[in-house]
Amino acid sequence: MPWFEWLSLFVRWFHVIAGVAWIGASFYFIWLDNNLNTPPQWKKDKGIKGDLWAVHGGGFYEVAKYTYGPETIPEPLHWFKWEAYTTWMSGFALLVLIYYFGASAYLIDPSVMALSPTQAILMGLGFIFGGLAIYEGACRSPLAKSPILFAVFFFAFLCIASYLACHWFSGRAAYIHVGALIGTIMAGNVFSNIIPNQRKMVNAVANKQDIDPSWGAGAKLRSVHNNYLTLPLLFIMISNHYAMTYQHQYNYLVLIGISVIAAWIRHYFNLKHTGKNKPSVLISGCIAMCLLALWISWPKAPAVTTNESVAGELHTTETQAHPVLVTQVQVQGLIAKHCAGCHSATPTDNMFPTAPLGIKLDSWAEIEQHKDRVVYRSSVTKDMPFLNKTAMTEDERQLLAQWGQQP
Ligand code: HEC
Repeated sequence: MPWFEWLSLFVRWFHVIAGVAWIGASFYFIWLDNNLNTPPQWKKDKGIKGDLWAVHGGGFYEVAKYTYGPETIPEPLHWFKWEAYTTWMSGFALLVLIYYFGASAYLIDPSVMALSPTQAILMGLGFIFGGLAIYEGACRSPLAKSPILFAVFFFAFLCIASYLACHWFSGRAAYIHVGALIGTIMAGNVFSNIIPNQRKMVNAVANKQDIDPSWGAGAKLRSVHNNYLTLPLLFIMISNHYAMTYQHQYNYLVLIGISVIAAWIRHYFNLKHTGKNKPSVLISGCIAMCLLALWISWPKAPAVTTNESVAGELHTTETQAHPVLVTQVQVQGLIAKHCAGCHSATPTDNMFPTAPLGIKLDSWAEIEQHKDRVVYRSSVTKDMPFLNKTAMTEDERQLLAQWGQQP
């Protein structure tokens, strides 16, 4: 349905724009806060505790941060809240459009858990909003008084969430659901905590009352969470282009590993903004990421079919078994059976009326043209056939792997 594709394009486009504005603004304000200078006396007399000069886009900018607030509340006062809300709303719309309307194609993987679309969608919603409720509960419990204890809880919480999602949904849907949970927590923090505390602050300044430090402290905890969650969330947003991650046998560990490393790298920048340059944090993060990539993609020796079973006794005299060549007929048979339903000029699949990404595998020439990717997606990342819709067996995958090694 072309209109559906267009709708998905516009919502996705909008989601990226809103997300850039949200994360961009939050990065900018973190940077700003950490780079404020001690102002001259005449500014201090006005109640300014930090100032900063910048040049950008052909003009000079002067920023001032007040200890308490301005004399009167200026109009207009910019809040920077719609960036967060619109990112969340468009993200949720995208989730519904792609993963809930297309539940049987994208959300459910029968080899992970055989679910009906209704079951899967309810579990998806339960995952996101149940997770949010647990997080909110924890933030309001005594746990939140100890940053260390809370960090331990939060880490365990995200590990369990990854594990559950990866054992309920297809790999890519699992990653997106963890992302949706994180995004909902972040937008929820803005909505239920950061903005209300800011509103109290603005009202206090307007009425010349004291600012209660607890407002800032509560918002601070949530801001710290949002700060560390940004890089993992951005990874998840692009993860569905990289099957080697979400399709890995231990995809939940891959997700946890990448998220922890991303948060660690964020930590480097947080330290750096406050003037503590610790390259060891950045370097160890990069090394860990390389090690993780190696672990994920270390080539596994393909199980080569040999003729030893055919020539059992011969094997005792001959030291080496001869590999049996995979024939063109075998490969074409496999592709016709498992791939051409979608990857064809005339697909028969009900979800994909046009060949996905334009990859057609009708003729031998087309198959050979895409040989590397065909072998890679069917025997290394093993995410083709899409969600294993045609139930391709491990032996069949090995056959394609072996064909890939033939000249
Ligand atoms: C049910 C439909 C379906 C079937 C069956 C299917 N694919 Fe795909 N294929 C897709 C979709 C959707 C995409 C694009 C999304 C993506 O890349 O994950 C795709 C993308 C691809 C790509 C391009 C991505 C890249 O890595 O460059 C290759 C190659 C591919 N499939 C190979 C295969 C092979 C080989 C088979 C059979 C073993 C197969 N597909 C069976 C739906 C299908």
